[in-house]
Amino acid sequence: MEQTKTATRDYLSYSETPWKLWEVLYARRSHRKYLPGEYDQAFFASLGEVVSLALSTRGAAEGGITVVSDTGRVERIKKRIHKGTQGKINLWLNRSPVAGFLVLAVPRADAKGDRPRELPLVAMAAEDVVLWLTEAGLGTCWVGGLNQREVGETLGFGRETYVAAVIPFGKPKPRVRAADMDHLLYLQISRKRKPLEAIAYLETMDNPYSVRELAREPFSASETQDVAGLLREMGKKRQSDPGVPLDLALDACFEAARIAPSAGNTQQWHFIGVRREGTLRELALACGAAGDWRAAVVGAAEPDRSYLYEMLEKPFWMIDLPIALSQMSLMAASMGLAVEVCVSDIDEAAANAVVALRPPLRTVGVVGVRS
Ligand SMILES: Cc1cc2nc3c(=O)[nH]c(=O)nc-3n(C[C@H](O)[C@H](O)[C@H](O)COP(=O)(O)O)c2cc1C
Repeated sequence: MEQTKTATRDYLSYSETPWKLWEVLYARRSHRKYLPGEYDQAFFASLGEVVSLALSTRGAAEGGITVVSDTGRVERIKKRIHKGTQGKINLWLNRSPVAGFLVLAVPRADAKGDRPRELPLVAMAAEDVVLWLTEAGLGTCWVGGLNQREVGETLGFGRETYVAAVIPFGKPKPRVRAADMDHLLYLQISRKRKPLEAIAYLETMDNPYSVRELAREPFSASETQDVAGLLREMGKKRQSDPGVPLDLALDACFEAARIAPSAGNTQQWHFIGVRREGTLRELALACGAAGDWRAAVVGAAEPDRSYLYEMLEKPFWMIDLPIALSQMSLMAASMGLAVEVCVSDIDEAAANAVVALRPPLRTVGVVGVRS
């Protein structure tokens, strides 16, 4: 797999055993060029299973992600997606022989509310599936610029259903150094990420994270490194491996979030790592979490005021941040940590106060590491 982002440090060298999840996270990138491919029934059966597994692990409703793979509906989505102005940026899909689409749908009232509940859960599950597809050697691209009414009608959704995004997937065309959209977007926008110092903090937002050498303590990543296996581990109520160095765990979670995809690569996100006992207790309480936490990361964002929101009318803060929460929680699981991801039922005002978020930033979700 080709590494598509520059790593903050050589993470793999910190584990005595293979820490394969990194290869998948660094290999994932948005693909806008595809080749025709052959996909057997077994592949689509496994994909369906992973979609169900991801939705249930994240606590999302069953119909939150629809896999569309029959040629007729795939072609109809490709045609209707860019009707009107909203999908015009995605004309590249016309020429793409994609294998299918993941379609993310939530109740309209949920997406349009002040604090969507279902949308972030579905977005987390979708990113899990994106990583599973990456692991299977397939290309994907989150697409938020779409005519959601046209896509919804294609699938027989009623007016009360909101299509938050679609994700085409298929056999990726190897990148060529030509002056085409895929290559230009890759070089100019997609590859770039803010440094950890610009998005990560310790204990509160008043204390920016500084990247320094981490002590090399004995550490072996979990034997489970595949995405489906990690999701199954996350579903079990077990304890964390007590030997995991927490400084490395926080740093690795920050990095997993940093390299995640976001709409327009805007990276409008902040991550506050928490280790102090008192703070952890307050945070767990705000999240209604059951057990003791050894560490946690709060993910925060500003509800959309960006140009993208104006243009596409989508609550991107409740899509982008959950994508990062998916990557962080899988990362923690790959280290042998038991994680609890809290999004829907948190006392947001309390969580915001614990880590001293500066308004208009708001807590989207918290990844807690159980003892
Ligand atoms: C919610 C969301 C919506 C996106 N919408 C589009 C889109 O409409 N068209 C497109 O070409 N890329 C879209 N992207 C892809 C981003 O531009 C891409 O993830 C970002 O530039 C980072 O690049 P990478 O995914 O290659 O790491 C979207 C990404 C996200 C997360």
